[in-house]
Amino acid sequence: MAMTFRIAPSLLSADFARLGEEVKNVIAAGSDWIHFDVMDNHYVPNLTFGPMICSALKPHALTAAGVAVPIDVHLMVQPVDALALAFADAGADLISFHPDASGHVHRSIQVIKAKGCQVGLAFNPAEPLDVLDWVIDDIDMVLIMSVNPGFGGQSFIDSALRKIEDVRRRITASGKDIRLEVDGGIKVDNIRRVADAGADTFVAGSAIFGKPNYKAVVDAMRAALL
Ligand code: DX5
Ligand code: ZN
Repeated sequence: MAMTFRIAPSLLSADFARLGEEVKNVIAAGSDWIHFDVMDNHYVPNLTFGPMICSALKPHALTAAGVAVPIDVHLMVQPVDALALAFADAGADLISFHPDASGHVHRSIQVIKAKGCQVGLAFNPAEPLDVLDWVIDDIDMVLIMSVNPGFGGQSFIDSALRKIEDVRRRITASGKDIRLEVDGGIKVDNIRRVADAGADTFVAGSAIFGKPNYKAVVDAMRAALL
């Protein structure tokens, strides 16, 4: 099956004092999406940025040719719906949330879709996939966490590979065009294994922003995916 791979650098590891520039630089390096990690110091033990920063960055999320680069918002917040709405208004293109953070998963999905955004469901390393039995036909993306959410720079948890395989089987069975994104500990040297398990979209924070030359890392990731 021909697969379109996407690389989504996570701004969590960018220089927060120069976020607009970092967005431009990482787009110039060849990013497909911008991954925006929203942490609330409640669902996860860390606090990042909110919808005002997303809307401030939106005009910077353009290629040199002026094509908009999708903003992939990963909500690590509880509750979900009000902030999801605020991010839809702030220019998010995709909004993912953790089903265990929502009291009514199906409703949260509908709230996001009603704003014209794509919707993803995010699963922590020890979180079962059962909810997909009921909502897979309503979503655009599954996000598999390969670290516990809250911090960049952690190591990839290997059991995520089995989970990615399971999600890929479910997506194939659904017959729908659903993206399978993996988030946490993705590096040049493991991205191929993650793709072989069935992922098509790769979040990478420290691997990209931790190096001086972002394009060299993005190029090496793409080369590993060939
Ligand atoms: C973790 C975040 C990730 C994180 C990944 O809670 O969801 O997006 O930034 O960072 P790395 O690539 O450094 O593991
Ligand atoms: Zn993330």
